[in-house]
Amino acid sequence: MLPKPYYNEGGMTIYHGDCREILPHLPKVDLVLTDPPYGIEFRSNHRFIKHDKIAGDDCLPLDTIQYLIDEAAWNATYVFHRWDQLPMLPKAKSVLAWVKNNWSMGDLEHEHGRQWEACSFYALPGHKFIERIPDVLFANKTGNEFHPTEKPVILMKKILAANVGHTILDPFLGSGSTLRAAKDLSREAIGIEIEEKYCEIAARRLGQEVLPF
Ligand SMILES: C[S@@+](CC[C@H](N)C(=O)[O-])C[C@H]1O[C@@H](n2cnc3c(N)ncnc32)[C@H](O)[C@@H]1O
Repeated sequence: MLPKPYYNEGGMTIYHGDCREILPHLPKVDLVLTDPPYGIEFRSNHRFIKHDKIAGDDCLPLDTIQYLIDEAAWNATYVFHRWDQLPMLPKAKSVLAWVKNNWSMGDLEHEHGRQWEACSFYALPGHKFIERIPDVLFANKTGNEFHPTEKPVILMKKILAANVGHTILDPFLGSGSTLRAAKDLSREAIGIEIEEKYCEIAARRLGQEVLPF
């Protein structure tokens, strides 16, 4: 049974809980756009404010990702991940590169500075572009004000705006960048987040004025 939504206003719904339990009870949506934990035990030491560990960040949730491709959407599923996780994931139709305005550390001696993140795109039978966009998307990094691995709303908007699909799902919602983007584009969306503090932040962000594209 579906739990009572944590937030439900203006076509935006947030569930607080484990997406593995909630997903089977949701109706199919048009499009999934999600950013699961990368499975790298993220905890930045390079920041003034040290963030908490991210829930579920000990391994990539492959079973859930497979479900999101096979069962959750009619049109398309987009999944963010690190470049080196590509071989673990089902073969995608495209892999988008989110190119950031600066790079992060990694191995300073034997690794190039990391300036992009991958997003695998799975086209499903109902898929249609509104406007076909290239597979390289430029967007400045956020200051991670709301979440340690926050995605820029503008990046999520570029992906959503390219695709036909009124109902959007992000089962690894974090601070709600996907729902914020969906709201700005007048779509409807469902988010699921296991940590209550991020549900609260996402709900607060949805309460803000609609931001221009
Ligand atoms: C990479 S973060 C998403 C960040 C988000 N894109 C943003 O812009 O803020 C992944 C999120 O998934 C949540 N999470 C991990 N396992 C989960 C699960 N089983 N069900 C629901 N949420 C989960 C984590 O708490 C974390 O906030």
